[in-house]
Amino acid sequence: MPESSRRPIIAANWKMHHDHLVTIQHVQKLAYRLEKDDFESVDVAICPPFTDLRTLQNLIQADKLEFKLGAQNCYWEQEGAFTGEVSALFLAKLDVEYVIVGHSERRQLFGETNEIVNKKTKAVIANEMTPIVCVGETLEQREAGETAAVVSEQAREAFAGISAAVAATCVVAYEPIWAIGTGRTATPDDANDTCGVVRAALADLYDDATAEAIRIQYGGSVKPGNAKELMAMPEIDGALVGGASLDPDDFARIIQYPRA
Ligand code: 13P
Repeated sequence: MPESSRRPIIAANWKMHHDHLVTIQHVQKLAYRLEKDDFESVDVAICPPFTDLRTLQNLIQADKLEFKLGAQNCYWEQEGAFTGEVSALFLAKLDVEYVIVGHSERRQLFGETNEIVNKKTKAVIANEMTPIVCVGETLEQREAGETAAVVSEQAREAFAGISAAVAATCVVAYEPIWAIGTGRTATPDDANDTCGVVRAALADLYDDATAEAIRIQYGGSVKPGNAKELMAMPEIDGALVGGASLDPDDFARIIQYPRA
């Protein structure tokens, strides 16, 4: 198989960690550990809680940092009586470039369905940002042999009504739920196979060229010690990193996986 021309993307999903003051210290430490070359062949996004976004936007601008700003969620309406929600429009105004959509924690803890994920994906695109659309199976689904069916359906429904040209610019994250925060990583072969299943579902929905253009990340207990072998797999185009992104040293080492 020819080497992929897809540019890898490594994203930090801080989840509900780090207030805006910690954000400054953390990102300064991270930037200090990295060199310009580290960004040459990989995009690096940081997705902090909403309350940190303005601070991080300012820091990136003031210090001319190479990080891309990301958010962890959004609401699909532009504005209105939706107490507690944050619209994709507002995120775009903060120079957010990536928005995580349909994370398994949103699906499991906050009742997000494939239909909601589709609405959010469309809202992110409508506001000229890039969605990171999460898919992934539970342990029960995996043990019942349903992984391929579950992730294919999640991918198809997330992209319903989205054109091929736009889909080609999107990012998908395959995150097996049993590997999130558990220290249990999918083997590189397993992760690669399921990313391949997701790509095949997207090729069915669109065409081969579109599916080949879409970047598919793996997420679930990615650490400095396993990033390189995961990233070496042909279907894996990056990582969505939870726990290990909270430590600037660990996250820097993951970004520097080619040197590991
Ligand atoms: P961990 O890296 O902590 O397993 O989390 C993965 C994840 O959910 C990233 O979105």
